[in-house]
Formats: sequence, C-alpha cells, structure tokens
Amino acid sequence: MSPRPLYDIDAVRRRIPLLRHTVPMNNCSQAPQMDITRAAAEEYLESWNNEGMDWDRWMAEVEASRISFSRIINASPDEVSVCVSVSQATSSVASALDFSAPRHKVAVTEGEFPTVGHVWLAQERHGAQLTWIPVKGGIIPLDGYESALDEDTILVSACHGYYQSGFKQDLAAVVAMSREVGALVFVDAYQTLGSCSLDVKALDLDFLTSGNLKFLMGIPGIAFLYVKPSVAETLEPTLTGWGGRENPFAFDVKELSWAPVARRFDTGTPPIFEAYVARAAMDFLTDIGLDAIQAWTEELSRALIEGGKARGLRLLGSEDPTQKAPTTAFLVPGDSHVIEAELRERGILASARGPAIRLAPHFYSTLQDVETALDALAEVLRTEVP
Ligand SMILES: Cc1ncc(COP(=O)(O)O)c(C=O)c1O
Repeated sequence: MSPRPLYDIDAVRRRIPLLRHTVPMNNCSQAPQMDITRAAAEEYLESWNNEGMDWDRWMAEVEASRISFSRIINASPDEVSVCVSVSQATSSVASALDFSAPRHKVAVTEGEFPTVGHVWLAQERHGAQLTWIPVKGGIIPLDGYESALDEDTILVSACHGYYQSGFKQDLAAVVAMSREVGALVFVDAYQTLGSCSLDVKALDLDFLTSGNLKFLMGIPGIAFLYVKPSVAETLEPTLTGWGGRENPFAFDVKELSWAPVARRFDTGTPPIFEAYVARAAMDFLTDIGLDAIQAWTEELSRALIEGGKARGLRLLGSEDPTQKAPTTAFLVPGDSHVIEAELRERGILASARGPAIRLAPHFYSTLQDVETALDALAEVLRTEVP
C-alpha cells in the first residue's frame, strides 16, 4: 500500500484553488493561496473599509501573529519580534552587536540566502571580519565549521535549509560547535519553517528568523525574529523605531526606553494586513500538525529523489530525505528559467535557481504530483534543451 499522510489530504487540497489547474511545486519560492488566507486578507479589507481605522483590533491581530509564530518554534510570544523581512530582522540583530576586537568575527555559511550574507558583509565597516563555511555539492559539511570558528567569533550565521538545494543543516551540531568557542548562533529558517517542527528552546538557539511566504503559506511583507531572552536583554539594536519602546504609545521623543525581551527588536508601524494572512496560515499548519507535515514531505522527498534517479536526472544535494527541506533540486543544462517557463506551460509550477530546477512540494502535494512533475521535467530536458 502506498504511504499516505496522517491528515485528510483531500480536505486540505480543497482549500487551495490553484490545485484545480496546476501542480504547485514552488513552495520554496511562494506557496499558493488557501481559502482561509484569502478570507483573512478580506477580513482586513472589510475592517479598513467599514471602520476606517480599527487600531485596537489591528494591533490585536499583529499580537496574534506573534503568538502563532511562537507556537511554530516553541517560544513564548515576548521572545518574538514582528519584522517586515528577513533582511530587516538580520540587520536589526547586526545593529545590536559590537564588532570591536577581540570578538569581531562572523562565521557565515556559503549556503545563506544572499541577503543574509550581504547584511554581515555590510558590518565590515563596523569592524566585523567574515569567515566562510563552505558549500560542497549542495551540502554544507559540518567539518567546514571547524576552520571557520575560533575564540574571536562573535556569531555563527547558519541557515536551517539551504535555498539552492534544500539541504537541511544539523542545527544541534552547529550549536554545539558554536558554544565550544563561545559564539552566538543566528538561524535563517525561511526554507524549512512550516514543513517541520523546530524547537528553539531544545536547540538553545540565540536568534531565529523567517519570512512567511514559503512553507509558512503566507505573503510577503512580514517576517519574525526569535531572540533568546538572556541575549535580548543585553542588546540595544540601533536599527530601531517607536515599536521597540517599553511603551510605544508614550510618544516621548526624548526617551529611548527598551521594551523587554525580543519586543525591543520591533521597529515601526507593524505589517498589519500581512499579519492577518500570516496568522491564518500558521494556525492552519499548526492544527494539521508539523510532525505529520514533516513525515509526509519526507515521503515526497524520497519519491523525488528516487523518481529523479529513475529518469536520469542529476540531483544537487543530499540523497537522504531526513537531511532535506521539502525542496529537491536537479541540475539542468542551459538557462534554468527557460526550463521553468516550459514547465509552467505544462501546468507545473517549479522554481529555477542558478543551475538547478527546484521542485518543492508541501503538505497538500500527492505522490502523483511528484510523478507528474518529474515526467514533465524529464520531457522538457529531452525535447526542449538542445
Ligand atoms: C532562506 C532565505 N532567506 C531569506 C530570503 C529573503 O528574505 P527577505 O526578502 O524577507 O529579506 C529568502 C527568499 O527567498 C530565503 O529563501
């Protein structure tokens, strides 16, 4: 008997209109709309239309999104800052660090999404020195950390899932190596959250950030930042705003108070509209169960890896489904964007990135979707690529 998810997949599929005419395999880029995320967006539009301004309710919705995200990572709401992008969240953290010697080195994996690397590079003018942890064949080998970390390292910047190949890092091992030299650990989990359970407390992370439009099934314009309380209390981000104050509504221009815990990383007017959508999506995923989603997406990864092999496709990254986000990448000749366009013509939404086509199913995808996408990719490579 072929494996099935632990939840009612037919029921969840009915919530995603895009499934009527396409096979979305680009969740590593933008997940599809659900009836509940559309309803949440409309709720905000209605409130704006009918009330003009409904500030208290809107702020309550932002707080609700903070709670929803905290449940996804096993934190408490005060330990989460509501941001507008991973770039902003990373910049906020960077702005709070002191890069004067001796602890002035930032160890960054080559698998970080470029925006994260750029933020750390921009700190060189404040005294930071970057050391790079290499990517090899779509994987970030742990031994790369050994030469990149030393007693001068202030922070290690490690993605959970590598956007290019879907490779998932062993965060417990990364934390253990970072602690040996006394460095903080910053994790960008944008390519994994929503597809697996992750416990910031059990892992003892210092910082974790994610946006919302990939496996968290939301939209652009909102992101979240977890900061460990004992670390947050020592930090004063210079990338700040009135939202980071002890009482934002005191409106005292001359008083720079710091909100407790991670709330001090809040900046300006929060992403209200986006919070409506983000909350609806995150609560939906939590209700399905992140462990069940992880189990199913690992089955889908297994089918992608084996099915790709059977069709002669060239895998980039790990062959072990437990070492992967739901994303599986296949190396393609020529311009991967041309292949993405050809797949779209055939009703398959894939995601081109550099030399690879990424196929990234999610909780609602079926084994048949995987076969259909692989058949289409193999056909495009056979018939369209010179
Ligand atoms: C792992 C990862 N981090 C960060 C980003 C971009 O973050 P933002 O645009 O919110 O700054 C992406 C976007 O694709 C990503 O995949």
